[in-house]
Amino acid sequence: MHDRHKLTLDAIRAAIDSEPNPQRAMESTVQLLARHLTDYTWTGIYLLEGNELCLGPFVGKPSPHTRIPLGRGICGAAAAEKATIIVDDVNSDPRYLACSIETRSEIVVPIMAGNEVLGELDIDSDKVAAFGPDDRELLEAVAALLAPKIAKPEDRRAAALPLES
Ligand code: SME
Repeated sequence: MHDRHKLTLDAIRAAIDSEPNPQRAMESTVQLLARHLTDYTWTGIYLLEGNELCLGPFVGKPSPHTRIPLGRGICGAAAAEKATIIVDDVNSDPRYLACSIETRSEIVVPIMAGNEVLGELDIDSDKVAAFGPDDRELLEAVAALLAPKIAKPEDRRAAALPLES
């Protein structure tokens, strides 16, 4: 990972380690991602409730997609496949559910506990192909740090929460 990503991961690890409250750990995570990585124009967390992904804390413009069924959109695809999805050009991906017309690329990283999807990190960028191997490595590490914090169902009740970075 490049230094910027390493520093971001260190800051998020410190924030998550020192935050006993799961909701605040998620809030700090999306804020630190937005603050450290300027290409990340929308950073949010969706939490799986039944068969729907429900928007939790986010930094960026309000999204019309506060509830996404499994299998719909890039978000629903990543949760159904239990794998990270990177889309270099959202306008050429038929799965894409638009949040903002400025968005050009997207990465979605599932937050897993064993084989169970708890939720996911969803990041949009206004740049084409903004997300590479460093972003995948960083965000998969962040997802692994968050997973134990939100392992209990009562710790991941989603309420769409807009935040300042
Ligand atoms: N683009 C996502 C929907 C969520 S918004 O980007 C915040 C998707 O295609 O699933």
